[in-house]
Amino acid sequence: MEIKEARFIISNSDVKKCPKPDRPEYAFIGRSNVGKSSLINMLTNKKTLAKTSGKPGKTRLINHFLINEEWYLVDLPGYGYASVPLTERKKWEKFLRAYILGRENLYCLFVLVDVRHEPQPADLEFMEWLGLSGVPFAIVFTKADKLKPSELETNLRVYKEKMLEQWEMMPESFVSSSETGEGKNEILHFIENVNRKK
Ligand code: GTP
Ligand code: MG
Repeated sequence: MEIKEARFIISNSDVKKCPKPDRPEYAFIGRSNVGKSSLINMLTNKKTLAKTSGKPGKTRLINHFLINEEWYLVDLPGYGYASVPLTERKKWEKFLRAYILGRENLYCLFVLVDVRHEPQPADLEFMEWLGLSGVPFAIVFTKADKLKPSELETNLRVYKEKMLEQWEMMPESFVSSSETGEGKNEILHFIENVNRKK
């Protein structure tokens, strides 16, 4: 699938004000600075569609982008960064929870994980909560360009082993780089398949 058209629709912190849930939707979540907004720009071939920053805590709202007039990509704030004030983080947590549990057209939540780091409790606990809540998700290992192939392979193996302590099967996963475009075809292909099946 090719993304021919991608346009920003609305930002908000209130799930009730999100666009009518009448199309398939895919959202990106993960720790601040993991590369959620960059991945959206990479997938859509638009360098500045979603706002990115070297400083964590850039995305602060639920941002809807309409793709090919048919489905939505959603950029979300990150979790787990102390540089964002606690009161703000609590607010995000509340609306993110409401969004994740209440958005009926959310076909898959992509949980982004920086492939350079070892498995982080915040991510593992978050995925455990998704599983218990019955929220469909996939993992995207980001920033693959920052590792040598052998390091990448090791980190992916370690992550999988860790997941299998908790999960019967490794969830669907992708390796990506917003610098090189790695993972783009695979992620878009996955979305296309889910769109078709639903
Ligand atoms: P918040 O909105 O703050 O939660 O962050 P985010 O997850 O949206 O991250 P963002 O896309 O803003 O990227 C954070 C930083 O990582 C930026 O400096 C990006 O250029 C960089 N970055 C993102 N993805 C990649 C990648 O695949 N490779 C490399 N080398 N850098 C990346
Ligand atoms: Mg962002």
